[in-house]
Amino acid sequence: MRPITRRHALQLGGLGVASLAIGTTGLVWQRGSRLVPVTGSDLTEPEVLRSRGGLLQVRLEAAESRISVAGRNATVYGYNASLPGPTLRLRPGDRLQVRLVNRLETTTNLHVHGLHVSPQGNSDNVFISVEPGESFDYDYQLPEDHPPGVYWYHPHHHGMVADQVSRGLYGAIIVEDPDPIAVTRERVLVISDITLDGSGQVVAPSTMSRMAGREGDLVLVNGHATPRLSARPGERERWRIINACSARYLRLRLDGQDSELLGIDSGRFPEPQPVDELVLAPGNRADLLVTTRAGSASWETGSVDRGGMGMMSSLGDLSGGVGALATLRVEGDTAPALAAVPVQPTPEDLRAVEPARRRRITFGMGMGMGMGGDMSGGMGMGGGGGEAMGMSFTVDGKEFDAQRIDQTVQQGTVEEWTLVNDSPMDHPIHLHVWPMQITAEAGQPVRGVFRQDVVNVPARSEVTVRVSFDNYTGRTVYHCHILDHEDNGMMAVVESVPSA
Ligand code: C2O
Ligand code: CU
Ligand code: CU
Repeated sequence: MRPITRRHALQLGGLGVASLAIGTTGLVWQRGSRLVPVTGSDLTEPEVLRSRGGLLQVRLEAAESRISVAGRNATVYGYNASLPGPTLRLRPGDRLQVRLVNRLETTTNLHVHGLHVSPQGNSDNVFISVEPGESFDYDYQLPEDHPPGVYWYHPHHHGMVADQVSRGLYGAIIVEDPDPIAVTRERVLVISDITLDGSGQVVAPSTMSRMAGREGDLVLVNGHATPRLSARPGERERWRIINACSARYLRLRLDGQDSELLGIDSGRFPEPQPVDELVLAPGNRADLLVTTRAGSASWETGSVDRGGMGMMSSLGDLSGGVGALATLRVEGDTAPALAAVPVQPTPEDLRAVEPARRRRITFGMGMGMGMGGDMSGGMGMGGGGGEAMGMSFTVDGKEFDAQRIDQTVQQGTVEEWTLVNDSPMDHPIHLHVWPMQITAEAGQPVRGVFRQDVVNVPARSEVTVRVSFDNYTGRTVYHCHILDHEDNGMMAVVESVPSA
């Protein structure tokens, strides 16, 4: 997502109001006892694990734990009993070794979202299954020229992703800048959402909300509800923001402060761009500089219209505004000014390269075909589990099959992919391993070089991207990052094969 102009934001804001008016019928009956969050606590961050001498070795144990969430005891999932899991800090060229221990009751695995590493063997291989009680040793080698920025890790076992991520399995990965940027402090801000009942148990989503993509009613920053941040005026903070929500889009604003965007995902602007507002689809990350001004500010997330399910829609307010994610209090003596931000190296503009191939890839939602084809009960509010969902989620008309190769690309070539959304709902499309450069939106060419690994494709629209399939061969996936859509089939396999 790119910074949105005020005019565009106002238009979308209008649509947000319209979707509010549709109301929340169907959700009301669920509102029994809900956990009452404790707000206003000081923001804390997960433990930081840093590479030394080119190596970081970590053990991540995935387990259900009773830990503090939103200031209350809750039974959630965590890596090392932490929500979010530890922050991993790496440098380009480093090796990361993770022993993943599965203490859950379901199969899991690990994905390093956005890292440009091999998808094979025990590297970023999403086809690995780690059964309950088992462990697996991952080994990732970052290239020397790995783009610095904000990445993250989460489980990726097909069918279990939304459940495991929404219960708390995610953590940040930071790849340091080779050319450091002077800041007063850095903050890692992992935004997630979850629904907890009064005793702190996770509330399972309804069938309808799984079709739309589950949204939790608590929106958390590092596991806190509306935590408090403080700073002195004139400081430059670097906010590493991750949208770890399973389906919720975020429209972030920090009024009264000076925000400049360094980049989204692994993409960077040559110079930081002033922004009023930032929209992050699920899976996107932002690298933001905030120069503080005296006063109190509220970090808000507003509504994003991410479409609906056409005539079947009684979903209410998808990705509705939730108000303050955090508060920022700026007071005290003005901090001394810091050195200017160095000019950032821009990635190669792939528009200068003639694509070896052009493909159109269509993301769709069908009725009554998938998951047991239960048309009668599947669409109702009281529908059963996933097997009864009366809607199929497809790529080029097919549900995910790990045994099938949907696209074969030649290593070392550049391709142009037009991502077509044939449905009434937005889909944030993610490709593993290789970042995408957006070249056109709804047929209109874009200016500038925007490289992202999650690209939102609006309802009934299309986005064209170019991808350089450099460095690696092997099989990996592309999919919708609304995790319920991925789990229900909106994922496909791409294989990069060595050039002859
Ligand atoms: Cu963040 Cu394939 O996922
Ligand atoms: Cu990913
Ligand atoms: Cu989707």
